[in-house]
Amino acid sequence: MPVLRDFFITLSENQFLNSAAQKYGLKMGAQSVVAGTNIPEVIESMKELNAQGISCTVDNLGEFVYEKSEATNAKERILAVIEAIHENDVDAHVSLKPSQLGLDIDFDFCYENLMEIVGKAHEYNIHVNFDMEDYDRLQPSFDMMEKITQVYDNVGTVIQAYFFNAKENIEKYKNYRLRIVKGAYKESPEVAYQDKNDIDLNFIELIEYHLLNGKFTSIATHDHNIINHVKQFVKDHNIPNDKFEFQMLYGFRKEMQLELAKEGYNFCTYVPFGDDWYGYFMRRLAERPQNLNLVTKQVFTK
Ligand code: FDA
Repeated sequence: MPVLRDFFITLSENQFLNSAAQKYGLKMGAQSVVAGTNIPEVIESMKELNAQGISCTVDNLGEFVYEKSEATNAKERILAVIEAIHENDVDAHVSLKPSQLGLDIDFDFCYENLMEIVGKAHEYNIHVNFDMEDYDRLQPSFDMMEKITQVYDNVGTVIQAYFFNAKENIEKYKNYRLRIVKGAYKESPEVAYQDKNDIDLNFIELIEYHLLNGKFTSIATHDHNIINHVKQFVKDHNIPNDKFEFQMLYGFRKEMQLELAKEGYNFCTYVPFGDDWYGYFMRRLAERPQNLNLVTKQVFTK
């Protein structure tokens, strides 16, 4: 399995395949896990989820941007999404990747872009989450969040349980709204656990720590064992429902998403949309090669 994981992660980083994929639209089954390519489509998808008692976090797909013009386009698109959430009264917040807004180009340029986005979202009382990318972008993303939260309070980020320094970071950033995940990128054994059991154990420890000591916690996983553990933990420690939510990705374990919402837990679906779906989709295949079923289903149901 690690070989397949590496294979799909390598594919996710291939710039040529990425541009080719954008040209040919949502193919290869990606439409099952990406909620459309434009704002009206994603607003419709989120309204459908809201009608089922599920809130959303919307992601304008895109990452690893190296041209200022591309980062500016992404910023304009995210501002338009925020406007659309407000106009349509959708129960949603925004997730974004700092590298899409120019983190790899220039810190100050990225800061200006993010300030505009977070400022607009603040006007409408909309939260903005900075997704966490790979290790090279970890500290710059935390630095960015710290700088922006000197002005606005509607920002949070992600803690990835595979990193050795995750515990240290969760303690440092416990006063932020945090999403806790296992971690999706290929990282070196010098900085991250490689063994699934080690990652799972750290994941549970981090979730418990933030539930007990931190601000709002988003537990983002499709892993039923972890979810069941959390359900018992919040019960045992009398942690109220408004202190946490479960999150899953759009299109995955749809029945479980609905069940959790029906059971009365806050549930939030991560809803990606846009043309730049290729890297996101390849990472999902890397996590779970069974997701290839999504591909074969699309091929055979045409
Ligand atoms: P994992 O993939 O370890 O699966 C554990 C078990 O759960 C499986 O063995 C299987 O039994 C069951 N299972 C999992 N998926 C299933 C499915 N589709 N159907 C049936 N059973 C299934 N990463 C990152 O680095 N930065 C980020 O910002 C984010 N953001 C983010 C947001 C949200 C909302 C989610 C859900 C995830 C992320 N991630 C992320 C990705 C995350 O780090 C991780 O790679 C994936 O969620 C996969 O790990 P899981 O915890 O879902 O379980």
